[in-house]
Amino acid sequence: MLNASPSQYQTARLSPKLFDAVRDYAYRTAGIELQDGKQEMVAARVWKRARALGYESADAYFQAVSRDKSGELQVDLIDALTTNFTSFFREPAHFDFLQNLILPKLRGRNQFTIWTAASSSGEEPYSIAVTLIETLGEAAFLQAKIRASDISTKVLRSAEAGIYPEERFRSLDQNWRSRYLLRGTGAQDGKFRFRPEIRKMIHFERINLMEPLPAEGPFPLIFLRNIMIYFDRPTQERVVAAMTAKLEPGGYLFVGHSESLNGISHTLEHVQVAIYKKAGHLEENRA
Ligand SMILES: C[S@@+](CC[C@H](N)C(=O)[O-])C[C@H]1O[C@@H](n2cnc3c(N)ncnc32)[C@H](O)[C@@H]1O
Repeated sequence: MLNASPSQYQTARLSPKLFDAVRDYAYRTAGIELQDGKQEMVAARVWKRARALGYESADAYFQAVSRDKSGELQVDLIDALTTNFTSFFREPAHFDFLQNLILPKLRGRNQFTIWTAASSSGEEPYSIAVTLIETLGEAAFLQAKIRASDISTKVLRSAEAGIYPEERFRSLDQNWRSRYLLRGTGAQDGKFRFRPEIRKMIHFERINLMEPLPAEGPFPLIFLRNIMIYFDRPTQERVVAAMTAKLEPGGYLFVGHSESLNGISHTLEHVQVAIYKKAGHLEENRA
């Protein structure tokens, strides 16, 4: 690794050979499809990481990524190539559906777990936790668990900390904030952290959806939102089949509102925009 001067990085381009190698790598490791039109974006992001980590060229950086046994550089590159954009209560119709149509069916259970399979920096699992508390009351702390997973250890670390700057909560009123958040002081001024009992409801875990899934499950509900856009059709079909196998009979799959399972082969019933259901009925008293 060398410390290169800024002038060495004037043209943030990748040779066609390197672009193909990065593209092949992203597809093999994370299922991410980088189309030809993405050349400039990929070049800018690869160079940005090369520069930040002090490599003399994009080639030298990518060679280090390919050889890295720790996996850290790989995760870092995949992070740079995807967007982690998310927000609290994003696509609110899903949270209404959870509250009004799913939770009444699960209320009688001793325990259940909801899985968010591309949870990014945590806004999605915390929004689920708050919906559970608002619907089930204190019982939610005993009854309900959330498994939040992502390929990126970086976003998972920040999600687990549960600390967010004030502007992330702009759309949520003062009452809401005081019920669920603690205000930071000193170095954490201007930030809020979810209360410990809420953080305890969520188990964070790195899961790459391209790899065999952990044995746990089945789940009554899986969030798989705003990730399918990265995948080509065969990968989408594989991931949806794997998720379907992880759903209970009558369980639900939520995808992003701009995503749809149209045109891919699957066995789920379409319920409403971005909501799909596995055949059968959710059992109210499942152990
Ligand atoms: C745009 S965010 C979606 C966040 C959230 N689900 C939402 O809808 O707001 C997409 C997330 O997918 C994750 N991701 C990309 N490829 C993945 C893979 N192969 N396995 C698991 N997560 C992946 C990224 O790290 C990123 O955090």
